[in-house]
Parts: sequence; structure tokens; C-alpha cells
Amino acid sequence: MKILIMNGPNLNLLGQREPGIYGSGTMDDCLAALRQRYPSVELLYYQSNVEGFLIDRLQQAMTEGVDGVVLNAGAYTHTSVALHDAIRAVKFPVIEVHISNVHQREEFRHHSMISPACRGVICGFGLDSYRLGVEAIMG
Ligand code: DQA
Repeated sequence: MKILIMNGPNLNLLGQREPGIYGSGTMDDCLAALRQRYPSVELLYYQSNVEGFLIDRLQQAMTEGVDGVVLNAGAYTHTSVALHDAIRAVKFPVIEVHISNVHQREEFRHHSMISPACRGVICGFGLDSYRLGVEAIMG
């Protein structure tokens, strides 16, 4: 299996950014733990702060035989029609994940532009949300 984990804006700062909300774990640690847990899964990772680069990476995944994408679109979750369209355009499942429980936070985080285009949504389990996303694709 080949699974791509994608992170959107500001998620390159995981571990330092608002640790009270996002925890102190880094994405490197999260990826290492996932690779150790599922050695037979080829886990790809991409992060960008740029909306269009996330769309480019998603489209590129179509040519790579990816089985699914675990996507934390960060703040673009709440704003991006372009990401919604890109997710609808790809053939593999995209799982929307969030580290925090966005529904317990500010009202502007309660709406997701991308949820209707995604296979499912996981939020509020800290970095474990990524593991749950990977497992959702593994079936
Ligand atoms: C987030 C929640 C978003 O509202 C926020 O903009 C993020 C991270 C999360 O993982 O909890 O950047 O997607």
C-alpha cells in the first residue's frame, strides 16, 4: 500500500506551535512511529503553506498509484473551494484529519469546505488522528 500524508499551512511548526492545542510532538516523530507500526505501508509525506502546491501534490499523487491520502489542510479546510474541487477530481479516497477537535473551538473552524469531498473526517485525537486516517485507508 502507498499512502500520502499531506499537511497544510503552519503544520510545519508542529511541536512548537500552540502546544496547548496541538501538543508537543513533531510530525517527524509521528511519521517514524507510523512507519515502524506499519512497515509494509509506503508512507509519503508532503507539507506546504501554499494552497496551490497542495493541489499540485494531490494531482501528482494520481500518477503515483497512491491508495489514499490523509489530509490535514489546516486553515484551508475552512476556506478552500479549490481544494474541495481537487479532492473531488482524484480517484483515491481522501481522509480529512485534524489534530484538534475543531468543533470545540472558534465558530469559524466549525465549517469545512472539504468535508463533502472527503471519504470521512477524523478530528480531535491529537497526532493519533493521522494514525486513524492511515488505518481508514488501510481498511
Ligand atoms: C487544524 C485545525 C484548523 O482549524 C487549523 O487552522 C489548523 C490545524 C488541526 O489539525 O486541528 O491549522 O487543521
